[in-house]
Amino acid sequence: MSDSLIREAAVLRDVAASDAPVYAALARAVGWPHRAEDCAMAIGLGHGLVATIAGEVVAAGMWWPYGESHATLGMIIVSPDHQGAGLGRRLMQGLLAQVKDRSVMLNATAAGQPLYEKLGFVACGGICQHHGEVLEVAAPLLAAGAALRLASVADMAELERLDRAASGLPRQALLASLLERGECAVLERGGRAVGFSVLRRFGRGLLVGPVVAENDADARILMAHWLQGRRGQFMRVDIDAGAPLAGWLTSQGLKSVSDVVTMVRRNWPTVQGALRLHAPASQALG
Ligand SMILES: CC(C)(COP(=O)(O)OP(=O)(O)OC[C@H]1O[C@@H](n2cnc3c(N)ncnc32)[C@H](O)[C@@H]1OP(=O)(O)O)[C@@H](O)C(=O)NCCC(=O)NCCS
Repeated sequence: MSDSLIREAAVLRDVAASDAPVYAALARAVGWPHRAEDCAMAIGLGHGLVATIAGEVVAAGMWWPYGESHATLGMIIVSPDHQGAGLGRRLMQGLLAQVKDRSVMLNATAAGQPLYEKLGFVACGGICQHHGEVLEVAAPLLAAGAALRLASVADMAELERLDRAASGLPRQALLASLLERGECAVLERGGRAVGFSVLRRFGRGLLVGPVVAENDADARILMAHWLQGRRGQFMRVDIDAGAPLAGWLTSQGLKSVSDVVTMVRRNWPTVQGALRLHAPASQALG
């Protein structure tokens, strides 16, 4: 189909829960690992659009609100047969019309970055994906007074406090969804929660994220907790490009496999204090 026919025939509509399997098929077509379950989680937490031609979904994109003034945007996919015809731009314009005047952050692939630049996004950092089959990982060594324990729903308010301090955003819905699907470890020092990490199924295996911690040493403990005892399992952690933990993750079997460029439109919160997001929940959700 010619570019002009694709442009004329494509119709945009809101994404629906029932689109999860076809969204996963689009992801597979561009080499992404998302399962239908991963797409269902993303659809449940956000808003989005799909482009259809004669009823067939050929493109999709989503955004996730955090409070009234911020959002992340992602999972922008145009099927390989329909790329280069203007669908990506049309989809992005539709999503940005929905997002209105929120500040928006996204993680751009090399394929998407030129489009996002044209739409006013500015590069502000990067994320590096580490994945692979885990080697023999030692149990993390905890200093006196430190402890790791599993979180329960009773910890939700404390997790929200830590996550908000690290991300600068209210992300209760995201945390609730993560706790439903995964397991959460809390690091305590002197009986006080100082960080947490979540493990859940994602894509080809298991994903660790978000990881919220005051420093690299704590972040490493919160990652190692999930990596230990999982020799041979396929695991993924995304970290800031250039983060010191890259070498350690690589030595545990999780090699650096790809980089994306973090881009923002308008202002993204700057975080005060020591708590930081050392790994996102996912590149799309932040
Ligand atoms: C990125 C993607 C969504 C773009 O969709 P698309 O329908 O092919 O894009 P469009 O045809 O609308 O083109 C978008 C714009 O980017 C421009 N563009 C694309 N590649 C470019 C490049 N290498 N250099 C400069 N500009 C480029 C196009 O010229 C076009 O600009 P224009 O609208 O001003 O003419 C699509 O390629 C895709 O799905 N890729 C795989 C998944 C992916 O990487 N998604 C991005 C996730 S962040």
